[in-house]
Amino acid sequence: MAEDLSTSLRAALLTGDARGKVMATRSLVRRWRSGELATGFSIAMPDHPAWPDRVKVLPPSQMPKRCKGGSARNRIALWHSLAHIEFVAIDLALDIVGRFGKEMGEEFIADFLRVAADEAMHFALIDRHLATMGAAYGDLPVHAGLWHSAEETAHDVGARLAVVPMVLEARGLDVTPATLERVRGQGDSRGAKILQRILDDEIRHVAAGARHFERFCRIHGKTPENHWKLMVKQHFRGSLKPPFNDSARLAAGLSRDLYGSIA
Ligand SMILES: [Fe+2]
Ligand SMILES: [Fe+2]
Repeated sequence: MAEDLSTSLRAALLTGDARGKVMATRSLVRRWRSGELATGFSIAMPDHPAWPDRVKVLPPSQMPKRCKGGSARNRIALWHSLAHIEFVAIDLALDIVGRFGKEMGEEFIADFLRVAADEAMHFALIDRHLATMGAAYGDLPVHAGLWHSAEETAHDVGARLAVVPMVLEARGLDVTPATLERVRGQGDSRGAKILQRILDDEIRHVAAGARHFERFCRIHGKTPENHWKLMVKQHFRGSLKPPFNDSARLAAGLSRDLYGSIA
């Protein structure tokens, strides 16, 4: 089969090795931008991406509780959980392009390929930071909760956008400032820098999700606010609860009226 965007996306999704996935992602984004890789959707995305063999996946209920203290063990647990979020975020971005790029068009593809490249960078930064603590991705168990949201919304780009960028990534905007303060308090200025960069990029990711969700609603004659609430109710099992990072959410185009009404 001739190589096109979808075959490269699928290959990156099915790369289990963590650094291999980062490299495959960066390379396909670079080649697509330079015109070397044609926009084409000849092949379907896999139901499940490959993850490193050494990463042990547990049901959320069996995950060990994390403590917030500054001991070496707690710090590694924090950064390991962040590494996993960014690693799955790479897959989520690759998948949304491969699954819905044909339907949503060129601007959507460009926006979410940029997200994929950002997530690959976030993971690489955290992976390097973990290495300075003598740890590596896969040292601790993880859960597959984030990927379940992708499976739950694999049939409908409106549902995917409503849940993944507009609920899950938006949640990241709410919790990251407190984590950043904690990390800064531990004297970890390098870690704080990484988190600040991630926070800045994630505002853009949420914004892209909200923008394309609105466009989707316009095309399909739906009211964004009502449709978002419906999709969240149908496809998101957790609850939306304060405190919300109102300023970061507003910068991403999410108004308080929207999420306040559902919280
Ligand atoms: Fe990220
Ligand atoms: Fe993101």
